[in-house]
Amino acid sequence: MKTLDDLIGEGVAGRTVLVRSDLNVPLDGDRITDDGRIRASVPTISALTDAGAKVIVAAHLGRPKGGPDPKYSLAPVATRLGELLGAEVPLIELGGEGPNLADGEVALIENVRFDPRETSKNADERVELAIHLAAMTGENGAFVSDGFGVVHRKQASVYDVAQQLPAYAGKLVLAEVEVLRRLTENPERPYTVVLGGSKVSDKLAVIDALLPKVDSLLVGGGMCFTFLAAQGYGVGDSLLEREQIDNCRRLLESGKIVLPTDVVVADDFSAEAKTQTVAADAIPDGWKGLDIGPDSVAAFAEVLARARTVFWNGPMGVFELAPFAAGTRGVAQAIIDADAFSVVGGGDSAAAVRALGLDEGGFSHISTGGGASLEFLEGKDLPGVAILEKS
Ligand code: 3PG
Ligand code: MG
Repeated sequence: MKTLDDLIGEGVAGRTVLVRSDLNVPLDGDRITDDGRIRASVPTISALTDAGAKVIVAAHLGRPKGGPDPKYSLAPVATRLGELLGAEVPLIELGGEGPNLADGEVALIENVRFDPRETSKNADERVELAIHLAAMTGENGAFVSDGFGVVHRKQASVYDVAQQLPAYAGKLVLAEVEVLRRLTENPERPYTVVLGGSKVSDKLAVIDALLPKVDSLLVGGGMCFTFLAAQGYGVGDSLLEREQIDNCRRLLESGKIVLPTDVVVADDFSAEAKTQTVAADAIPDGWKGLDIGPDSVAAFAEVLARARTVFWNGPMGVFELAPFAAGTRGVAQAIIDADAFSVVGGGDSAAAVRALGLDEGGFSHISTGGGASLEFLEGKDLPGVAILEKS
């Protein structure tokens, strides 16, 4: 794989470099609630501008359907990126000859997914868009792939464009891939994985891939209730994927899965709901589990204290609501306290760390990629990385 250092070594002063970043940040209206991905994009962009490149950043926000939608505009992101870079970042249209930038200046293309060719299943359509993107760099352009969170997508600005321009891996993509390799190739043992989030069906493939490799798999979040149901417990009104119960039963046979022993249940999905903590096999009818309980946190913490390698993806409960944040906070703190190589995978878990005011520096690495890191751990080819290895 050619890297950003190689590109800078070749000389970039006066050249226009297209950088694909993952700036898909959570928004509340037009307020960015977690700017982690924008901050993570800065080192690569700054390295290029410091070396005299003109930089055009391509990125997506959300999943707009079929065309431009102001709700998914990157305008707030352009503003924040400008603040972080200390220079205004104009938001520009995709296509044409590209912006008139001076050396060291940066522009951001409006949401690439406003053009349906970006995510098209038809390769010819994607290539067409990739050619437009490449043309924006003019003579002697280059492409730097740095949007780790989106490298699992075979999309025009991630994959096809790497065949239209000399392509290089950015700092973030390199760093993320290196960390994930350390998890897959010979992890120091015990290796403990903590999984949460709402759906078993989303995590089935990664659980199947991980079980033979890990020593323990701790399960919390909405998905734990399907596992509890697989043990024959009633789960009240908790999230339940009935059609996954058999799968969960099969996974439990590994003997490596640790489930919560108590849960915080509520009579409503709300911060004002009535709550109680009950044993995992005694969830009352009409109540829903929204967090793991304190005994579970203690049991998970005990496993984590012995671990030498930890990967965590997915919150343990509805951490956005204060009454259901203790599980995620407690488990995150146990990972911080463990004397282990610890990786947080995923937008939601990373956002939880920051929202709960935990020490980001307490983890060895916080990945900017949720789906991407899970697919890597599943052993799948990441198209956006594979294409860099080929070019
Ligand atoms: C993400 O947030 O998971 C990445 O930015 C990729 O977005 P996507 O899941 O909509 O492709
Ligand atoms: Mg996603």
